[in-house]
Amino acid sequence: MEDLSPRPGDLEPIETASRDEISALQLDRMKWSLAHAYENSPFYRQSFDQAGVHPSDLNSLSDLAKFPFTTKKDLRDTYPFGMFAVPREKLARIHASSGTTGKPTVVGYTLKDIDTWAGMVARSIRASGGRAGDIVHVAYGYGLFTGGLGAHYGAEKLGCTVVPISGGMTERQVTLMQDFKPRIIMVTPSYMLSILDEFRRQGIDPRESSLAVGIFGAEPWTNAMREEIEQAFDMHAVDIYGLSEVMGPGVANECVETKDGLHIWEDHFYPEIIDPVTGDVLPDGEMGELVFTTLTKEGLPIIRYRTRDLTRLLPGTARSMRRMEKITGRSDDMMILRGVNVFPTQIEEQILKCRGLAPHFQIELTRAGRMDNMTIHVECTLEAADEGARTGSAKELIHHIKSVVGVTTKVLVHAPGGVARSEGKAKRVVDNRPKE
Ligand code: DLL
Repeated sequence: MEDLSPRPGDLEPIETASRDEISALQLDRMKWSLAHAYENSPFYRQSFDQAGVHPSDLNSLSDLAKFPFTTKKDLRDTYPFGMFAVPREKLARIHASSGTTGKPTVVGYTLKDIDTWAGMVARSIRASGGRAGDIVHVAYGYGLFTGGLGAHYGAEKLGCTVVPISGGMTERQVTLMQDFKPRIIMVTPSYMLSILDEFRRQGIDPRESSLAVGIFGAEPWTNAMREEIEQAFDMHAVDIYGLSEVMGPGVANECVETKDGLHIWEDHFYPEIIDPVTGDVLPDGEMGELVFTTLTKEGLPIIRYRTRDLTRLLPGTARSMRRMEKITGRSDDMMILRGVNVFPTQIEEQILKCRGLAPHFQIELTRAGRMDNMTIHVECTLEAADEGARTGSAKELIHHIKSVVGVTTKVLVHAPGGVARSEGKAKRVVDNRPKE
């Protein structure tokens, strides 16, 4: 794989600034953001008033802990436009999350917000090893989802040539990649696996493809999956994180030269880790729920947004800005099986250890009497498709899950193609337990 370390002059000054410089900028911007939210959004005025705090109470970054959290429910309760801090006419764009239950959450951007966002995605692509002149194949979905358009504007801003293919029509994705020869692909890791299958189906060696870098996010994925994809395509695989409430893709990104967690673009997004039960702020290094405050956003300033994502904050390495560890999962993805907490990423890691299994899987939850049961649906590889090999792989996976994760599961090994494919975010858990 190519050495893609940044060259002198590649980085913005803030990416290598001292911690003191970063903190000073954050404090100035945080003061602005709190005042902007309080003065222009009736939602924040009411929420701060109720909590008995005023933007002038913030004298240091740690004073942020005095301010109330914002949750997805707040966005739903103010649907569609009730949280914005600018008149609706000033919004250049709306995005929304589909949401599995109830109303979608709507977010909005001024023109300046769109430009800031493009700048953060451009920085993320550069951190991933991309540069002006690259062809970027964007297979994140275009539309209300922030993935496609977010990636698109960032790649354009960096000076790349964008192929806005969106998700789906996998056969054509591969044909166009063969014809246009992109250096970079931006896509969910689960859809990248479907693309990998399609390369093989067409008899094309993925290692011969033009791809040098994949920028994967929008769903949790493991380092084991990174290795799988890097080997299969002979390319770098880096992690991009973001969420629509805070902006979209490009809140944090791994640096290709270290691949050691995601640097948070702290000049625009202030992170905290809290104890999900008490809400107390935890010190750097401790696992908890990630909370974000936007520092520059005009349309929808977001103060202490509870992401539900679980991770920890680590010091900067390739950049001065702090890192977040690769996300284990969301608190709402956590399954509790006979008292043991289980995340889909833990199952993914164990599947990738089994040579006879392909990394396509879904977890089904059922209930018999008062017992919850977990069945892992997974596929065998073409080489290990006979009855005997499949039974062996199932036993191996059951053993790994029992000894590493600590739970007993059922494993059904399907033929290649037997597990539902993703074209965007994978649906890892199917809950067939009776509703209470
Ligand atoms: O998924 C934005 C995005 C698009 C990020 C493309 C990266 C690439 P939402 O649809 O609002 O926005 O979903 C946000 O997805 O709270 C996480 O739970 C999850 N997520 C996003 N990126 C990652 C990642 C986009 N790199 C939610 N690792 C977040 C793990 C991720 N989970």
